[in-house]
Amino acid sequence: MDRKKLSRLLTVWWLLLALLGLNVGGTFLDLGAFNLALSLLIAGLQAVLIVAFFMYLRNAAPVIRLVAAAGFVWLFLMLGLVLSDYRTRPEDITLGRMLPESAWAAEAGTGETGARVYQAVCSACHGSGLLGAPRFGDRAAWQPHAEHGREVLVEHAVNGYKAMPPKGGHPELSADEVRQAVDYMLRHSGIDLTQ
Ligand code: HEC
Repeated sequence: MDRKKLSRLLTVWWLLLALLGLNVGGTFLDLGAFNLALSLLIAGLQAVLIVAFFMYLRNAAPVIRLVAAAGFVWLFLMLGLVLSDYRTRPEDITLGRMLPESAWAAEAGTGETGARVYQAVCSACHGSGLLGAPRFGDRAAWQPHAEHGREVLVEHAVNGYKAMPPKGGHPELSADEVRQAVDYMLRHSGIDLTQ
């Protein structure tokens, strides 16, 4: 490789690094939605530099440039399909609510909500006894907790208690969902405080 070519590549490399620095620096500015636009713009510039100089498309035959451009068409088709899947899902999928809200509500009896919340959130600790959490189904482990009474248990589950994080670390849960999960766990551990 002759010196001129090498120094051109080095210049482009420095430019890429400078753009990287700009991109990182940009994330420290609070531009709202424009942060993403700015990042994408800079990343796009970098991609163009790489394609043009490092992949030698700048001097390539037209047909090769055409093929390279076609690659982007496929890329955007793929991104479009992925995003159309992502964007059309219901907002709250944390609890496995893949059904439209009405179907979810119709399907879920009161017991069902507790089971879903337990599966999605509480089981992470209460399934195995992680951090000393009373285990699902283990009556002896739950008994001393049950003595706090239902209201206190629910209050502890909602606001946190020792190593038990508020709402199991999921603030999007309503107090009622948490309460149903508490009842569900207790019921399946042979304790019923709902009377
Ligand atoms: C990050 C782990 C973790 C998650 C997730 C978690 N818990 Fe707990 N939970 C604990 C631990 C640890 C304790 C035992 C606290 C103690 O008594 O030391 C506990 C205790 C409890 C108690 C007994 C409180 C008392 O008064 O003795 C209830 C009720 C409870 N959890 C409900 C829930 C519910 C409902 C969920 C899901 C919404 C949940 N937990 C999710 C760790 C967790």
